[in-house]
Amino acid sequence: MVSPFDVLDIEDDATEADVERAYRERVKQAHPDTGGSIEEFQLVRRAYRELTEADWGANGAGGANDDGGPAPADIDLDDGEGTGPIRVEFLDYEAVADRGWEIDDDDLFAKAAAADLPNADYGRLLVEPDESLLEAAENRGFSWPFSCRGGACANCAVYLVAGELSQPANHILLDAHAERGFRLSCNGYPLSDELKVVFNVKHLPELDELRLPPGPFRRMRTD
Ligand code: FES
Repeated sequence: MVSPFDVLDIEDDATEADVERAYRERVKQAHPDTGGSIEEFQLVRRAYRELTEADWGANGAGGANDDGGPAPADIDLDDGEGTGPIRVEFLDYEAVADRGWEIDDDDLFAKAAAADLPNADYGRLLVEPDESLLEAAENRGFSWPFSCRGGACANCAVYLVAGELSQPANHILLDAHAERGFRLSCNGYPLSDELKVVFNVKHLPELDELRLPPGPFRRMRTD
């Protein structure tokens, strides 16, 4: 397995400042928008996380919390991409439909925040560098829909309200779906520092025909 020091191109005795400086440089090179790839981008983020693991552990990374989770210590987020766990605010489409809301309503998340919804329906979670959005939800105890986990159905689809999610394997969604803001959560990795998504959108008319039977394994919701 490649050393995180090699990934960041630093010496084994690099200081914390060296790690941060190297990370900021490498993550920009590795970003898909600047000629890198999803895989390289995730590799760099994972290397950074390994080298700063003590800080993440101390901050209790993962799980929903009041302010969206910890930010990496002493990192300038303005000139880098995704320096640690990505904050995700999520909303269940069922809650949207039950209340007659629209997913493209600019005030959708403000309405959700004011609606006193259960944490499984509306809340926040953190996505670690080596987790897809669906994996992160499951690892925090949520039960989001899926089936194939391979880009071949719309069961795991989410609607992007803010931010960007990669789509390395998509054999099902049309360009029009992607342009409208739909992404697959099973293999989607955050490409922005924050995300707002409506999950469970598989029942929308434009996605309904692209569904498969539910996957064989579902985790129980925590509420
Ligand atoms: S679960 Fe089928 S594409 Fe994600």
